[in-house]
Amino acid sequence: MHKEHIYPIFDKTLTREDREKLINQKSKVVWFTGLSGSGKSTLASALEKVLYEKGFLCKLLDGDNIRTGINNNLGFSEEDRVENIRRIAEVCKLFLNCGVITLAAFISPTNEIRKQAMSIIGEENFIEIFVNPPLEVCENRDTKGLYAKARKGEIKDFTGISSPFEAPENPALDLDTSNCTVVESIEKIMALLEPEIKGNC
Ligand code: ADX
Repeated sequence: MHKEHIYPIFDKTLTREDREKLINQKSKVVWFTGLSGSGKSTLASALEKVLYEKGFLCKLLDGDNIRTGINNNLGFSEEDRVENIRRIAEVCKLFLNCGVITLAAFISPTNEIRKQAMSIIGEENFIEIFVNPPLEVCENRDTKGLYAKARKGEIKDFTGISSPFEAPENPALDLDTSNCTVVESIEKIMALLEPEIKGNC
């Protein structure tokens, strides 16, 4: 072996910092947790647009692109929810290591499930936002008609009705979306997030 002919740069793959520098931002995972119909996806997609307009590269992960794809073999038993969130957290970690600001909008109903996500992603990378209107508000909105079905027993293990939701113990933000507009919520999130993701130039 002629080690002197091997350039050190070939010894290492590019780092997260290299990629962050390339796109002049620092990556984070913004983790939205809350009941079905609480407004997680609404806030996450509004945030995605605001970040994009300010020049940040981000990626939104939610039930639409995850439960129809990579996790289409999972249901809503406790075991499947744990596996759902485990895989999502691993996907978040890949995006994070690409320097991409990653927005995850999933019920993620228990402290144990969220703790698992945080430990995969890393506490220093994880910003937890509790989307927290009262259950009655989510149920009255019933955008997908699922609460009505759950009350009739047509859907089992439905979060908030026949399956538990534990409030997060120490979220970075607790937003009662029945009391404030999307714009107000986004302002609060941005006040917290922007200093964390700004690049150096
Ligand atoms: S999680 O509990 O595993 O985090 P996730 O966020 O992926 O859930 O999916 C929740 C979405 O799936 C809900 O917004 C709703 O549209 C749909 N859904 C279907 N069945 C259920 C159920 N039994 N409990 C909760 N949500 C359900």
